Amino acid sequence: MRWRHVLITGASSGLGRALALECAAPGVTLHLSGRDRARLQAVTAAAEARGATVRPAVLDVRDQAAMAGWIASAGPLDLVIANAGISAGTGGAVEPMAVTRAVFETNVTGVLNTALPAIAAMAGQAPGADGVRGRVAVVASLAAFVAAPGAPAYCAAKAAVQRWAEALDATERRRGIRLHAICPGYVRTPMTARNAFPMPLLMSAEAAARRTLRGIAAGRLRIAYPWPLYWASLLAGAMPAGLRNAVFLRLPAKEAGPGED
Ligand SMILES: NC(=O)c1ccc[n+]([C@@H]2O[C@H](COP(=O)([O-])OP(=O)(O)OC[C@H]3O[C@@H](n4cnc5c(N)ncnc54)[C@H](OP(=O)(O)O)[C@@H]3O)[C@@H](O)[C@H]2O)c1
Repeated sequence: MRWRHVLITGASSGLGRALALECAAPGVTLHLSGRDRARLQAVTAAAEARGATVRPAVLDVRDQAAMAGWIASAGPLDLVIANAGISAGTGGAVEPMAVTRAVFETNVTGVLNTALPAIAAMAGQAPGADGVRGRVAVVASLAAFVAAPGAPAYCAAKAAVQRWAEALDATERRRGIRLHAICPGYVRTPMTARNAFPMPLLMSAEAAARRTLRGIAAGRLRIAYPWPLYWASLLAGAMPAGLRNAVFLRLPAKEAGPGED
């Protein structure tokens, strides 16, 4: 499962960092972005130590023009992973309006700012032996399947990108572009480090990266894991909304504020 030209947003930390290092190998060019220059530089050095050529870019995914310019000038792209994201909980209170907007701007608009120019670039690439011109993976979450009152914007934003990627794949695959909706459960990263509640089946970022890349290599449209938590999410999502809210309001919520900065 070696892609030669890979672009990853949010590569300066957590899952994005692990994805970058898992893809890093001699002959591979990695285009990596994040906002924190020092952490991005550390990931660049680690990926170069594995033999990859790395082109780091300090960029904010909310900056549509900058993202379009970066992606258009990257050269050939086999795999683009729209991974950058922030999390926010309510801490059991009402979600502040600024938090709602911040989550949608990064987790939805930021994903579109990555995926749309990537698809446009891939449409002009020659298909490989498998007929695929390029692959775009959108990092959603198992939160996509549950409208949890403890994280309204986060769940809705993840549902939006998961559904968008899955629906779009049906038509994009006709012209050789594949989409993948990545739906991880709890992953041990700085994003979850501040969660003060139990996180069942918490996995390492490295294990999540390997599962993600295996799923993409297998051509799976939805890559949701670990499966017991996936099925639990589907069940919770299928509950009557009022009952689900009543149950979930009794559970601890992520602390208030976006997981930004
Ligand atoms: N951890 C989990 O349990 C879990 C589960 C399911 C899905 N996910 C999803 O996985 C993705 C990665 O999360 P993570 O757990 O690895 O979190 P993380 O360690 O906090 O990393 C988030 C990454 O996103 C980048 N980022 C955030 N806002 C950005 C912006 N406006 N512009 C550019 N980059 C930005 C950060 O870059 P800088 O720090 O350089 O700004 C960082 O590299 C997210 O989409 C998250 O929702 C995580």
